[in-house]
Amino acid sequence: MATAVVVTVNGLQYQVPNTYGEISLNEFLRKNLLLTGTKVMCREGGCGICVVYVEYPDPSQQGVVVQRSINSCLCPVLSCDGWSITTVEGTGNRVTPSPIQQQLTKHYGTQCGYCTSGMIMNMHGLTKKYNGSALTKQIVEDSFDGNMCRCTGYRPILDAFKTFASDSKPACHAVVDLEDISGQGPGVKCPTTGETCFGTCPKPHESQMAITNPINLQAASWDQPKTLTELYSRMAALAGKRLFLVAGHTSPGVYKDGPYDAYIDTKKISDLYLKRVASTTFIGANVTMTDTIDFFNQTATSNPRFSYLAAVAGHIKKIAGTPVRNAATWAGSLMLKRTHPEFPSDIFLCFEVANALITVQSSDTDKLVISPLALLTTNMDSPRRVITSAGFPGFDANVLFRLYKIMPRSQNAHALVNAAFRAQVDRSQPGKFVIGSPALIFGNITGSFNHASLTENYLKGKDIGDATVLAGALKILHDEIKADDVPAEATPAYKQSLSCSLFYKFALEIVGNSANSRFRSAVGSLSRPISSGTQDFPTNASNYPLTQPIPKLESLVQCTGEAKYISDTDSGTMLYAAFAVAERGNADIVKIDSTDAMKYPGVVKVLTAMDIPGVNNINPNANVDQEEALASAKALFAGQPVAVVVGSSQTAAEEGAKLVKVTYANAQTPILTCRDAIDAKSFFPSIPDMVIGDAPTAIKNAPSRVKGVLEIGSQMHFYMETQAAVCTPTDDGMDVESGTQWVDWVQGGVAQCLGVKKNLINVSVKRIGGAYGGKISRGNIIACGAALAAHAVNKPVKMFQSLWDSAKMIGKRNPYYVEYEAGFDANGKLAGIITNVYANCGQTATESPVSAVTLWGDNGYNCPNWKVSMTNCKTNLPANTWTRAPGSTESIFFIEYIMEHIAQTLGKPSIDVKRANFYKNGDRTITGQPLKDFTLAELTDSFLTSASYRQRLQDAATFNLNNRWRKRGISVTPMKYGSTWNGNNFNCFISIFHSGGTVAVSHGGVEMGQGINTKVAQVVAYELGIPLDLVSIKPNFSLTNANANSTGGSVTSELVSLAAINCCSQLKARIDPIKNTMPNASWSDIIEACFVKTIDLSARSWIAPKTTGDDAPVNYNTYGVTCTEVELDVLTGEHQITRMDVIHDCGESMSPLVDVGQIEGAIVMGLGYYTSEELVYEKTTGALVTYSTWKYKPPTTKDIPIDFRVQILQNSSNPSGVLRSKLVAEPPLCMTCSVVFALREAIKAARDEISQGHDWFQINAPMTVEKVQQYCLPDIAQFTYN
Ligand SMILES: Cc1cc2nc3c(=O)[nH]c(=O)nc-3n(C[C@H](O)[C@H](O)[C@H](O)COP(=O)(O)OP(=O)(O)OC[C@H]3O[C@@H](n4cnc5c(N)ncnc54)[C@H](O)[C@@H]3O)c2cc1C
Ligand code: FES
Ligand code: FES
Repeated sequence: MATAVVVTVNGLQYQVPNTYGEISLNEFLRKNLLLTGTKVMCREGGCGICVVYVEYPDPSQQGVVVQRSINSCLCPVLSCDGWSITTVEGTGNRVTPSPIQQQLTKHYGTQCGYCTSGMIMNMHGLTKKYNGSALTKQIVEDSFDGNMCRCTGYRPILDAFKTFASDSKPACHAVVDLEDISGQGPGVKCPTTGETCFGTCPKPHESQMAITNPINLQAASWDQPKTLTELYSRMAALAGKRLFLVAGHTSPGVYKDGPYDAYIDTKKISDLYLKRVASTTFIGANVTMTDTIDFFNQTATSNPRFSYLAAVAGHIKKIAGTPVRNAATWAGSLMLKRTHPEFPSDIFLCFEVANALITVQSSDTDKLVISPLALLTTNMDSPRRVITSAGFPGFDANVLFRLYKIMPRSQNAHALVNAAFRAQVDRSQPGKFVIGSPALIFGNITGSFNHASLTENYLKGKDIGDATVLAGALKILHDEIKADDVPAEATPAYKQSLSCSLFYKFALEIVGNSANSRFRSAVGSLSRPISSGTQDFPTNASNYPLTQPIPKLESLVQCTGEAKYISDTDSGTMLYAAFAVAERGNADIVKIDSTDAMKYPGVVKVLTAMDIPGVNNINPNANVDQEEALASAKALFAGQPVAVVVGSSQTAAEEGAKLVKVTYANAQTPILTCRDAIDAKSFFPSIPDMVIGDAPTAIKNAPSRVKGVLEIGSQMHFYMETQAAVCTPTDDGMDVESGTQWVDWVQGGVAQCLGVKKNLINVSVKRIGGAYGGKISRGNIIACGAALAAHAVNKPVKMFQSLWDSAKMIGKRNPYYVEYEAGFDANGKLAGIITNVYANCGQTATESPVSAVTLWGDNGYNCPNWKVSMTNCKTNLPANTWTRAPGSTESIFFIEYIMEHIAQTLGKPSIDVKRANFYKNGDRTITGQPLKDFTLAELTDSFLTSASYRQRLQDAATFNLNNRWRKRGISVTPMKYGSTWNGNNFNCFISIFHSGGTVAVSHGGVEMGQGINTKVAQVVAYELGIPLDLVSIKPNFSLTNANANSTGGSVTSELVSLAAINCCSQLKARIDPIKNTMPNASWSDIIEACFVKTIDLSARSWIAPKTTGDDAPVNYNTYGVTCTEVELDVLTGEHQITRMDVIHDCGESMSPLVDVGQIEGAIVMGLGYYTSEELVYEKTTGALVTYSTWKYKPPTTKDIPIDFRVQILQNSSNPSGVLRSKLVAEPPLCMTCSVVFALREAIKAARDEISQGHDWFQINAPMTVEKVQQYCLPDIAQFTYN
């Protein structure tokens, strides 16, 4: 093997030493080539932000080039030998952006921009694969299953990319020829030959480059044989060694099985790419899933005996996301199942049901041909064997195949349960469906359960059309499915029920029209048409650039990868830090042993609490609870930082951190939930009740009453840029680049930990890759950790957390437990409400939003009597923290829940009960303020009409009548949201430069995707009366923006705009006297004249709004209404949002496209919170189980509403707002509980089928697929044909 491989990146060749076996392409690009446009987050193929485009010679076909997008985080750089790689920087730049970059910018497809390059490169790969008319909207929509975005809600991204589809509307069609894109991209052509460059020229190109920051490694051996014979001999030579056969190398995204002694890359062995169709269809072990899908689809079309392969291909398409499938092989998946029998391999399922035969060999003569099931127990190690191919038999038309995969979200998730069924059906006797040799295979039941053998045996030769046979089969199946109880997987009860459901679906397919059509509604899965959206917003051309719908200022540089984030900062001289964390909570720490950590190559220092020079507390404000930077004596929660490990590389720091040993004593069972805390009476100091009137008496005297409880879970912020800080010691203190929403807090926290004066700490932040509240105070944990390390080693130190560490350490949205009681009259008019609200705070209550219920808990409803008790529960979780619309989201959910309960009790549509309770102007809200701007009632009424609510309600009822196993539900959620400015201090600093009159602005807010910079620039340009392109927004810096508050609560955009307006007023006051003397002069000339006259062209403003009396605490209200329609599969619990209508009042929107983006993004984040995002903790240690993308499931492109209609209210204004605007960002999320109630309606319809829908039933959020199915109460006794 050569000592180096040659990799071409964006047209330049690099030699990579063959010691880089464990360095990913992503690390190589970011660290060695400083190509930081390619981002990194999960490092497990789950988020797609690291996607790059690759080309390499097809090992099986001379002269053919393989072209595709892959995840750079999983791809070892050495396996790119001879490849040509294009990163986002290689496709265009801000001067000459590519058509894809232009379209995404134009469609407002970026917010924080951290996911953007992955999106661009995935689309780049698509346009290479599908030339000309072959690219359709459907293909675009199907191909973004592996790319996550937490900000945008995906709609604008999909819209942008669909413009390249041949079937997009001509008016929307991107004005480029796909051929242009396919040919473009500097760097993919060889400068000598003009052909695609694979780095295989015998002589290096002139441009062969040295790599920056080379890494010295003692790595496992790496080999890349070119023939099977070479492979066999190299494998034999490694007998007894831990060997990884590198195919796609995606499996480390699922299981981290190392370390390995040796890697053998099999990608250049042409014999492993066999594709042949004869009486058997053969496919080589190295054929990727993408190519398998294409090959199976072609084979199915051209040969009826293989038509079943189309169903197999359809199932393989549900594995992972497109970039993973572009690299992953089927053989790797089978081997994963072999090593980890519990792994729910979809490939195993597909191949087993197809009766595939797998060939495994250790030499040309040692050849076994075995079933996938036999492979699981076949000796592959002595002799060392490799899978070489699989053969698929043909089947007659009377053999029926069905494959199912039920996932926690629509795509890119492993199966809760997967199943594949095959049955030969003899229909020769009229009305009979006799089954011969069936195969019923299930995944994710237990490690050893694959075939439902008892049911298979029972069915042989029986007529499944016979109701008693069906019942018998279901009974046996029900009894033989005994699933393991695994945390964060579906429960055994659901798996059992689901398995029966899937078999019942299969039986219904076999008997076809002999079953009642209502019951046949169970057949198949929910079908999802291509999604679409409309956006309707006001704009006022006379105020431009204010109210002008423009793309975000930073959008283009985000699309070209030129936008720099803190996590991108790197240099050859800096060190890296990672936290070692407690593995359990609620225990004393006896000892922290760093001996092993210090032995890890590259580790230079391990710091514990004893090494902190200042105060061991990250919170600089004496009024809030203390939080240790490093745990000193007690591990309060699993995931708490106990040490900082400093190393010469990120890997050294992280691996070293894992070796820090903590000895515990006095370990107690951790308190994890509100109910645990209630049982243990583990509370923070009590909070006074909110009492209005006399709720107990009012409820007692009311004609009707409801009483109940509800629970709602937590939510991870899931920012795509995890927490990051870079600290550089200077001669007078420390420079801190921090990914924070709150510069002042970081400055104070770092100064306190280091024991230095605050003025010696210089904090800056230009932009952050998403935050959603998680970087308000929590950024201090990371900034303090990095600062302590930098101080200790007196060198620049970067801390860029892994997703896993971040998930375990950082607090999240507070879970709640609520008891409620309400009294009302026959119309549902409220008489009184009592609620006991318990918030799970984790280790501190500093950031508890529990009292938000006193601000937003009434929503738009007038109730004369309230008693609200609020309790902060102290649990062994990290300090839970603000998460987009904290407290308001939940408070509105609680009251909406109560309204739904009342409505069902009265048998009325809930919207009628809600309308009966709407406030009127002049009414006092729960804050005691008289309402003067209440427009919600009229807004709701007009919205009901524009959303065709009543008609659709009827249509849903008809649908439900006609479909036994599919149900629809519609719900409407109106919203009143009070904006509070008090306590929010912000500043702004503006300078106008002579020689051109350009303007620079530094405001006290932080750009994290919400478009604050764009709004401020629009405001400044409008106020000064100059073109927008003269305005530039600079980073937030602790000197220019000293003492500013955190960016959050949706009010920062308007308040820094207010500060900017004040600055502009000051400047205008100084400029205008000069201007008035130069009536026809240009802005530039006026500024020059001011300069000559020594006018101060800089201004500063400080905003500290104070409202009192009837104007406090709510400055003004904003309103919105959401209508959600869902359809669910009763048997599985899968559901989708068929249509969602949202109207939101933004006053006079300063920047309508920014505001539409905020609405859509908030809605989709809310949909995740209410349906698929679930956090699970291990009960004995309190450790988070759902810390990875494998287990935690935010929404993807196909979880968004199929028909998504967003309106910003026309003709609105806001006399109390900034330039007549209203806030956005958080309020729309408060309406997303609408999905819960739409689902509840559908579940109620399902329960009505068994007479269980009449009485109120409790539902808890999130409404996961499992919960939804279980709430429908399916039972095998109901699984009949009629
Ligand atoms: C984000 C993500 C989501 C996923 N979702 C799913 C899912 O929903 N359903 C599902 O079924 N799977 C899923 N997977 C798993 C995926 O299918 C496997 O990672 C993939 O198939 C492994 O193939 P590979 O070519 O990358 O194998 P590699 O990672 O290269 O190798 C895997 C193992 O197989 C061995 N091996 C490789 N080739 C051979 C061979 N020819 N003969 C013998 N041994 C060999 C290797 O030594 C190694 O032990 C997911 C993976 C990721 C990263
Ligand atoms: S970082 Fe590669 S997929 Fe997430
Ligand atoms: S823009 Fe996609 S994650 Fe922020």
